[in-house]
Amino acid sequence: MPRSTAKLVFFYLSFWAFLKMSLKFKNAKRIEGLDSNVWIEFTKLAADPSVVNLGQGLPDISPPVYVKEELSRIAAIDNLNQYTRGFGHPSLVKALSCLYEKFYQNQINPYEEILVTVGAYGSLFNAIQGLIDEGDEVIVIVPFYDCYEPMVRMAGATPVFVPLRCKPVDGKKCSSSDWTLDPQELASKFNSKTKAIILNTPHNPLGKVYTKEELQVIADLCIKYDTLCISDEVYEWLVYTGNKHFKIATFPGMWERTITIGSAGKTFSVTGWKLGWSIGPKHLIKHLQTVQQNTVYTCATPLQEALAQALWIDIKRMDDPECYFNSLPKELEVKRDRMVHLLESVGLKPIVPDGGYFIIADVSLLDVDLFDMKDSNEPYDYKFVKWMIKNKKLSAIPVSAFCNAETKLQFEKFVRFCFIKELVDKDFKADIINVKIWS
Ligand SMILES: Cc1ncc(COP(=O)(O)O)c(C=O)c1O
Repeated sequence: MPRSTAKLVFFYLSFWAFLKMSLKFKNAKRIEGLDSNVWIEFTKLAADPSVVNLGQGLPDISPPVYVKEELSRIAAIDNLNQYTRGFGHPSLVKALSCLYEKFYQNQINPYEEILVTVGAYGSLFNAIQGLIDEGDEVIVIVPFYDCYEPMVRMAGATPVFVPLRCKPVDGKKCSSSDWTLDPQELASKFNSKTKAIILNTPHNPLGKVYTKEELQVIADLCIKYDTLCISDEVYEWLVYTGNKHFKIATFPGMWERTITIGSAGKTFSVTGWKLGWSIGPKHLIKHLQTVQQNTVYTCATPLQEALAQALWIDIKRMDDPECYFNSLPKELEVKRDRMVHLLESVGLKPIVPDGGYFIIADVSLLDVDLFDMKDSNEPYDYKFVKWMIKNKKLSAIPVSAFCNAETKLQFEKFVRFCFIKELVDKDFKADIINVKIWS
């Protein structure tokens, strides 16, 4: 065979083998179209040490000393380095039950009504996989923590979106409480296919803390249409002066249909621990347990024991200002106010959050020339943050990442800054941020 023909045959066979392999090893349908992720994309861009990272919600303040000390003490105990009970280490579920009983005013069975998970992500995944079916509809409030939509889609269900809309009061500072759901619009999303609504209060990225009245509207609809409520309350302790966090599960008729989600990472500023929990009635939790026992099975024992011990320390002093559940929001309120001031001083209009540790601001007011990025099809906020990382060495997160395709336009002028940062503390350090935004 002439050499050129042999080359052609070789090329043809290789191409055929490649095509066959690509088809055979194609992704599963359930993850089709879910491959982009804002955290992966922007964490990589902000990895340069010269970039000030106000993007991802990870605290750079020190976690409480006793939390770290408990972990190092426990790591030295041999049997606490082995597997523990799959649904939650006994001392941790007991501590969680004691803590939350104070709010629910009923006993919470530590073994049947609590499930310890790999972060709040694990709780969301277990709840959605365990309770949502193909063909179901799940109501998702926009903007939303970005994993809600892909998790609902992975379960084969359809997310039905309803936006928070802003009604600013003239002359007043724009606050997260100006963003509300239109009760009629919300009601129009419920129907016989609605299996659940995902609620997030205090809210990421807006910082909205739902009022009792707002939650009652949601509760009434859940009861009327017999739907579940997955209530993501990871920022439950981070609520600022004049606001109060309410648990929808404590509303009449809601306990039996609600899964409430918490996070050790957010509670004790230890996001790297990746421990979370779901609380709910036995008839719901048992389905989440089934998902857990067939996926990750159990969570890290030393972390669970250390978390239990740390919780006991704070459970015993809940009315004391020293209790971390009280001291952290006080510390963060100062940072929030500084951040508001900083953003205002460079001509931005931040939306003052009532809870959580993020603040969003309309960056289109800076009127930055994004000429470099003109070819990109990305939303404005993606281009703006990339420009800011490159030119100002400051990173944040584009808010349209928290939106479905249809509502991205509505939010693409907003960028989210995280303020649980040491940088936002001291004046001279805060100036660094100021200079970066402004100069
Ligand atoms: C609203 C919300 N839910 C869930 C999570 C995930 O929490 P965890 O780190 O415990 O998985 C986060 C993390 O930022 C969050 O903001």
